[in-house]
Amino acid sequence: MQKSNNNFIITIDGPSGAGKSTVSKKIAARLNLSYIDTGAMYRCVAWAAQKAGLDVTSESALPALLQNIKIRFLAAAEKNLVFCNEEEVTDLIRSPEIDRLASAVSSLSCVRDALLPLQRAAAQNNPAIIDGRDAGTVIFPDAELKIYLDADLNTRAKRRLEDQKQNSDVDLKSVTAAIASRDQADSSRAQAPLLKAEDAILIDSTNHDIESVCQRIIDLYESLKK
Ligand code: DC
Repeated sequence: MQKSNNNFIITIDGPSGAGKSTVSKKIAARLNLSYIDTGAMYRCVAWAAQKAGLDVTSESALPALLQNIKIRFLAAAEKNLVFCNEEEVTDLIRSPEIDRLASAVSSLSCVRDALLPLQRAAAQNNPAIIDGRDAGTVIFPDAELKIYLDADLNTRAKRRLEDQKQNSDVDLKSVTAAIASRDQADSSRAQAPLLKAEDAILIDSTNHDIESVCQRIIDLYESLKK
């Protein structure tokens, strides 16, 4: 079992658009925790594979890329920056195309096996909040506080559309279909499927604003720290 080394680790899992990253960033800032966006790591692999012209559905195409990939996060005042192989990719990895490719690479064992030690190392010596799909089940099964954040499909699609509103190609119908298809892929893959850990606390954000979800998690954190 992966111990969290006396660090306080909070894991936030759940489907796309449930509000995980917004909630995790706000809590990280308020509680002075590192924020580890594991989805961004899969997005970096997809971006680097696309850039290299590799087939992202093939296990045999990716080992060399995975061996050399460098992913780095930099917490900046305005936003958290993501670097892949020293190129700043923060916005580049948020396109609908990378949404699709990241979902494809995340089902490959070689990718999950290569990213797992990087995800654990990122939280090794500091209290952290880890945002993902398998953070509480696989990356940190012994985390001190595990949250499974959910919301209904329509609410999640509206939030995702709002995030992507600068992209004129997207509408609610296409975003809903894309999220439903990623939910299906994330939940049904063989390795580390999206799943609520038995000891995770379920929070449904459909009818709750971000602020009240953050406060609920901070209250849980404070009660466990006592
Ligand atoms: O959270 P996100 O949308 O940025 O994640 C991008 C993709 O990576 C998504 O298809 C789910 C996948 N993912 C995963 O399989 N495991 C994680 N811990 C995080 C994300």
